[in-house]
Amino acid sequence: MLFVRFCLHFIAQRIPPGNSWDDREIEMERTRSKSQSRMRRRVVLFPLPLQGHITPMLQLGSILHNKGLSITIIHTTFNSPNSANYPHFDFRSIPDGLSEAVVSVADAVAVMTHVNDNCVEPFRESLSNLLSNVEEEPIACLITDAMLHFTQSVADSLKLPRIVLRTSNISSFLVFAGTRLLYEKGYFPIKDPLSDAPVVEFPPLRVKDIPVVETHDPVKSKHLLLSMIGQTKASSGLIWNSLEEIEQDAVTTLKMEFPIPVFTIGPFHQYFPATSSSLVSQDRSCISWLDKQAPKSVIYVSFGSIVGITETEFLEIAWGLAKSGVPFLWVVRPGSVHGAEWLEALPEGFLEMLEGKGHIVQWAPQQEVLAHPATGGFWTHNGWNSTLESICEGVPMICHPSFGDQTVIARYVSDVWRVGLHLEKKLERGEIERAVKRLILEDEGQEMRNRIMYLKEKVDISLRPGGSAYQALENLVHYIQSF
Ligand code: UDX
Repeated sequence: MLFVRFCLHFIAQRIPPGNSWDDREIEMERTRSKSQSRMRRRVVLFPLPLQGHITPMLQLGSILHNKGLSITIIHTTFNSPNSANYPHFDFRSIPDGLSEAVVSVADAVAVMTHVNDNCVEPFRESLSNLLSNVEEEPIACLITDAMLHFTQSVADSLKLPRIVLRTSNISSFLVFAGTRLLYEKGYFPIKDPLSDAPVVEFPPLRVKDIPVVETHDPVKSKHLLLSMIGQTKASSGLIWNSLEEIEQDAVTTLKMEFPIPVFTIGPFHQYFPATSSSLVSQDRSCISWLDKQAPKSVIYVSFGSIVGITETEFLEIAWGLAKSGVPFLWVVRPGSVHGAEWLEALPEGFLEMLEGKGHIVQWAPQQEVLAHPATGGFWTHNGWNSTLESICEGVPMICHPSFGDQTVIARYVSDVWRVGLHLEKKLERGEIERAVKRLILEDEGQEMRNRIMYLKEKVDISLRPGGSAYQALENLVHYIQSF
């Protein structure tokens, strides 16, 4: 009692005259948060300016921000993210010099090479400015996309640790890491791109699954990959939008081949409700259309943000979907059908003929579509974001990969996890009709749905306290704070 009285007396002595208890508490809170902000660390993120890479980088920023870190995003002027959607981030734009000519050829290798060659000085300047302006929040580290390999030497020269974010999955990364081996074994240049022969170095891949990136400059493509792998090895750590439970063997191999800290914290989008980092506006009419469909009755069709198709393929898809009789929601990005602006190639009256069974949009709120009870299957190009979003919603897939990591991911979906049908042959309306019916209407599709629901559960458990992804995130945050 005496002690309590002493304390009250002591406190009263310290309240300046005229200050109420509330004022004093506010003052104490100010002091507390000032000292907290002194402790707070800032992380600088630099995404590759392509949709499939920007999305996971911004999601990672939000995850780290929720964990008490301040976030600065350095970004190119090309495909700059919408800062209004992220008021809690600080955005710094750097000039990239990307000309219309480079962007319009839709050659991802050309864009990546250009950024690596031309952004060194603007990036160094932006980062140096940030480093010299950090009285309150010291910068702990830099996190950049794996493809931005030039950032390692900039970070080294500024004595800042660089952690790499690889936005795709681990199994496909290991194949990229084996590029030199595949060259030595004579796989490149690929003689028969349709060959079913096994790639013994990377089971269960077949020759046709070896990742190839469509480009006008294959030499630059090889250089880009080798630099990406080399500079990842030289980094201070590697973050994955993936998790041990679905890539256990790959994680084991990765840790042997890349002796740096590895953080499998994904899937990023599961850490918070669907947000939009979309560079294109989403057509929400598809949600009201889905509301009118029966449970698990719809096939959702989308090939991501880069893949293009020929007019012939477009028409085969249209007729295959129509002939299946299964309701479909189809994303056709403007410009994705070669030589057309949007849907001109469709026969006149095509959609009217389907009497509401088909709905086409330019861009959809994909996560919401996959989570919708009416969605029964996803015909995808197997970009990693789309694949992971499908797993997280328990939606089985039809796989039709186009290039790069997609061919490896598709093989894992169909042959390892067995949660999708592989459309192995060229796009033909009869094949498409059969695949859609098998997935949506037949027992085979239901079995895949059961298996993918099991994977979904594994993901959910991994993200809870005690789960491997949960623990990996804790480790990552401690690691960043240790710099
Ligand atoms: C690219 C590569 O093609 C892919 O292979 C690699 O794994 C990542 O970079 P992208 O082709 O865009 O990505 O495919 P994906 O990774 O699937 O990302 C597409 C993203 O766009 C997903 O997050 C998806 O939800 C979103 N999306 C797609 C929409 O929001 N609306 C749409 O209509 C279509």
